[in-house]
Amino acid sequence: MKQLEYFLADEEATIAIGTGLATALKKELTQQALVVYLNGDLGAGKTTLTRGFVRGMGHQGNVKSPTYTIVEPYDLANWRVFHFDLYRLADPEELEYMGIRDYFNDDCCCFIEWPEKGSGLLAKADLTITMAYQDEQRVIKLQAESVRGEQIITELAHIIEL
Ligand SMILES: Nc1ncnc2c1ncn2[C@@H]1O[C@H](COP(=O)(O)OP(=O)(O)OP(=O)(O)O)[C@@H](O)[C@H]1O
Ligand SMILES: [Mg+2]
Repeated sequence: MKQLEYFLADEEATIAIGTGLATALKKELTQQALVVYLNGDLGAGKTTLTRGFVRGMGHQGNVKSPTYTIVEPYDLANWRVFHFDLYRLADPEELEYMGIRDYFNDDCCCFIEWPEKGSGLLAKADLTITMAYQDEQRVIKLQAESVRGEQIITELAHIIEL
């Protein structure tokens, strides 16, 4: 499966997709870096989705938006999860100073809001997620960009059906 699309009636539905992605990832047998690009206008739900993912990966505290910090790290049992928001990045070179390459190791999951602001310096995405407004609600499209991305959204489709 290369593409998946859902209507998200409320915030809980957005969180459920994020949690479902965590469940899909945890089912994999080998550990490998996962890179997810999050597209969508301001307020479309990118941080909300990531919150569901980070909680699904086992984090129990707050998940705040990395708007001012650029990146929020979560050190979890088997994974390091990095939530990026590149909206305020003035120059992609800032990512070089942050040591961006170290964020794409095999024990790392990176969820990246506003990835176009870091173009040229980010690892290639496994999944591109696009969130859009539909009146007060949202629609989410997941596009696989690698074979592994395809496996993850195929698994996600099973999980969401349950
Ligand atoms: N499916 C949904 N239906 C209605 N509201 C939603 C839905 N999903 C998330 N929201 C709401 O949208 C608001 C903004 O969400 P969020 O902060 O996740 O957006 P964002 O895409 O990360 O924005 P930014 O680009 O500013 O970081 C939140 O108040 C959240 O509760
Ligand atoms: Mg956000």
